[in-house]
Amino acid sequence: MSYYPREVIDDIRSGNDIVDVVGQYVKLKRSGSSYVGLCPFHNEKTPSFHVHSDGQYYHCFGCGVGGDVIGFMMQYGNYSYLDALRFLADRINYVLPEAEMTADIIKKRELKQNLYEIHKVAARFYYEQLISPNGKNATEYLDSRQVKLGARRKFGLGYSPIAKGALYEVLKSRGFSEDSILKSGLVYKKDDGNYFDKFFNRLMFPIIDVYGNIIGFGGRILGEGQPKYLNSPETEIFNKSRNLYNLNNAKAAKMREFILVEGYMDAIAIYQAGFYNVVASLGTAFNENHAKVLKSYADSVILLFDSDEAGVKAVLRAIPVLENAGLKIKVLQVHDAKDPDEFIKKFGALEFGELLKSAKNHIIFQAEQIQKKYNLDSLDDKIAFSKDIASLLSSVESSIETDAYLKEVSRMTQIDLPAIQNEISKLNNGVKTVRMATSNSKINKNSIDEARGGLISILVSNRVYYDLISPNIKPEEFVDDFYIKTVKYIYSLYSENKPVSKESIISFFDTVEEQSRITKLFVKQAGYIDNEMEKALNHLLRKVKEAYYDKMISDDYSNPKLPELMELKRNVSKLYISLSDG
Ligand code: CTP
Ligand code: MN
Repeated sequence: MSYYPREVIDDIRSGNDIVDVVGQYVKLKRSGSSYVGLCPFHNEKTPSFHVHSDGQYYHCFGCGVGGDVIGFMMQYGNYSYLDALRFLADRINYVLPEAEMTADIIKKRELKQNLYEIHKVAARFYYEQLISPNGKNATEYLDSRQVKLGARRKFGLGYSPIAKGALYEVLKSRGFSEDSILKSGLVYKKDDGNYFDKFFNRLMFPIIDVYGNIIGFGGRILGEGQPKYLNSPETEIFNKSRNLYNLNNAKAAKMREFILVEGYMDAIAIYQAGFYNVVASLGTAFNENHAKVLKSYADSVILLFDSDEAGVKAVLRAIPVLENAGLKIKVLQVHDAKDPDEFIKKFGALEFGELLKSAKNHIIFQAEQIQKKYNLDSLDDKIAFSKDIASLLSSVESSIETDAYLKEVSRMTQIDLPAIQNEISKLNNGVKTVRMATSNSKINKNSIDEARGGLISILVSNRVYYDLISPNIKPEEFVDDFYIKTVKYIYSLYSENKPVSKESIISFFDTVEEQSRITKLFVKQAGYIDNEMEKALNHLLRKVKEAYYDKMISDDYSNPKLPELMELKRNVSKLYISLSDG
């Protein structure tokens, strides 16, 4: 955030009317309550750039940028936040107090730099150990797993030696401070004051972010034994939910379709087979943040998990997560092998390529899994099955698609088409009412993001909604960091009885990206007519809460609280806020 007090920033904003400032650079014409002009940030012939005097914000319907007057100057003048602020202060002869770059920020930046360096040195050290006589067993292990030399180099594989403080000594001799070394998570200090490397006698897999920085390691035991893998802890530079193994290479492949696997070894085997667009999650369940990361590089994902029961479960959990991020999903299972790595070893790269082509639509995969739960010779099971299928298919947006799936399911199960259709229409009646109520704001059933945005818009629009909504949902339940931050801010404003408006929320942010995101959200949310509000609000609230529980559930399947979470998720459907009580 910024380094000037809020009051100073507010002074500068209120001294620089957005219509005046933008008007200096863009020819604006009055249109109703706002001004329009040709967007200076993208090429256009008909004006879609709007400047609102009321809310003191701008927004372009063409390219999606938006924000307050500071954001405009950042974007237009290519200024940093502080420079834009200085520029606008100058414009009105406002004398800024000395800016202070907080010591905290400087320290954090330095620490991060050190951690990147430490990881680079560590990877180099592990690599040298691998090719030294110390690394004989590890090299033999790689040979036995058929990891070729090229792949060893490409993935920077290494070996952590048996000597228990070897890496510590190397880092120390390179002059890194004890503090940075310990914060890297690669070394820890025992109570007796001795230093130990986290990894020893393991095959080392560096984890590399999209920018090519090494941010952590996975270490596999050589051969059998427990734990099979050790992973770096989360650090200032390593966040398991935002990074995926091989993402840097997969991104470079520019394929728009990614193969998502479970294991490091699967990713390497598939890469070696010539399919570079493969990624693996990092010893955590696939989650919403992963999906968002994927969505920035791909439109579609092939889920290729291990063929055991755990793999199938993981696929079923990943599907809604990917779906919510707006990704197309296909599912694939290897046959006659426990995982993709083994499959490629047994049948070769060509056969693997063929297999990829047979990936199934995820709805069909889910239908098959549902079918496994039932004995379709029994009438009761048949009915229960139809209901399950109906609820699965009711989530499909396009009716052409629904019809196609219906035919496939009916073929699979020999259940009459009309019987299933009947169940679906029963279910859909409920869903459609809500959908109609919210169609005003074009709430895409698939986009959880829009549901969160919708709820935020409602919160901002009137304190009454804050009073009703806030006891029922915590900021954390918005999952996405950006929304959490926004909701926390809105809640804090209301609870301190400060004015809440679109304007104050937009100006809370100090990057063009965040300002654009929040402005877009406000522009998108048309008002609700009174009788729609209650339905819309409840629909959005439930959707956001359900997605939160989905995330909690899929984050950690071994969580002992799983049944409790499932129960909480089910209870969301009973939650109902009545506006007339408010
Ligand atoms: N994993 C982990 N800790 C474990 C076991 C697994 O972090 N104790 C993570 C690792 O990221 C691993 C992934 O889960 O890559 C999948 O596990 P698994 O299929 O057992 O590992 P593979 O990489 O396939 O290893 P291998 O083929 O050597 O068994
Ligand atoms: Mn495996």
